Amino acid sequence: MSEAFPGNRVLAHTGARYPIIQAPMTWIARSRLAAAVSAAGGLGMMETSSVDIEVTRREYQAIEATTDAPFGVNLPIMFLRQNEAMEAQILDWLLEQGVHFVTTSAGNPRRHIERLKAAGVIVYHSVPSLEGALKAQDAGVDGLIVEGAESGGIRNAEEVNTFVLLQAVRERVDLPIVAAGGIVDGRGMAAAMALGADGVAMGTRFVASTESPVHQNYKDAIVAAGVDGTIMVPRPPRAKLRALKTPASVALAAGEAASGPMGSVIDALYVGGDVDGTAGSAGQGSALIHEVKPVANIIEDTMIGFWREIDRLSALRGSETMTTNRESIHG
Ligand SMILES: Cc1cc2nc3c(=O)[nH]c(=O)nc-3n(C[C@H](O)[C@H](O)[C@H](O)COP(=O)(O)O)c2cc1C
Repeated sequence: MSEAFPGNRVLAHTGARYPIIQAPMTWIARSRLAAAVSAAGGLGMMETSSVDIEVTRREYQAIEATTDAPFGVNLPIMFLRQNEAMEAQILDWLLEQGVHFVTTSAGNPRRHIERLKAAGVIVYHSVPSLEGALKAQDAGVDGLIVEGAESGGIRNAEEVNTFVLLQAVRERVDLPIVAAGGIVDGRGMAAAMALGADGVAMGTRFVASTESPVHQNYKDAIVAAGVDGTIMVPRPPRAKLRALKTPASVALAAGEAASGPMGSVIDALYVGGDVDGTAGSAGQGSALIHEVKPVANIIEDTMIGFWREIDRLSALRGSETMTTNRESIHG
């Protein structure tokens, strides 16, 4: 374990050098991005939402061929259960490979927890709410990814922002917490840790990285987005999606257009670069992303910024030493 984070449970669970996880994202979180994140000391996460054993095998093996560093796999429950035979094949194959760290999302973690725990896998579950966190804790997960409403991608219709959600979960849950939603640098990481997190996950930041496989236009649109540069659009039947504000997403939000299947965003935006005609997922943190840069620089800059913030906060103490009891507060 890294000397810099004594007792950090996320590092103990993941084996990564830094408590920085790359969030799973359909099509994007495959070998090129995940391997780069792991090689740079974070934890790369491979997505499996295509529910395809061939893709899973190919991408997993490509990560292993690129780096010896640990990486994890995301199991999106709702997607996988649509094809139970393939779900079983994927799970069997991953366990045969000795997968060590899994996140589950979009569904009830009970579906896989027993099997994964019996195989010695560390399981974190992604939750957008306090209720979800308590349920996941009851299900026996090892940790939580707590996703605030700033996050890009599919969201619950009723959400709470990271600032309050993290504290609310920390008050009630003793599991390690990885904070997600609006974190793009060391300042956000330090804030998340102050609110009770043990590590952070970043999605949008890694979409706008050199190794991200999406079209340059999409990366540039994230860099160009301002503080009001995202919008919530309906994601039938019940969810919503935080997307870049574009003519297409504004029309979707206004109910003037219907959302298409996920595959059309992959073809039109991720591959084709049509920003205006699509609603590409992006978090509010887009406003804080000012350049596309290599994954290694993102992780290094995040750590440099993190320690700078920790030093800045420590310096607030000045020469005061006794500030943790009431007498010293009152002088
Ligand atoms: C482009 C994009 C695609 C995403 N796709 C998925 C997905 O397929 N499955 C999933 O569970 N979360 C997905 N997410 C959400 C991320 O896993 C993560 O929760 C989120 O990006 C964290 O917030 P941030 O974008 O502010 O860092 C996606 C996010 C983005 C930005």
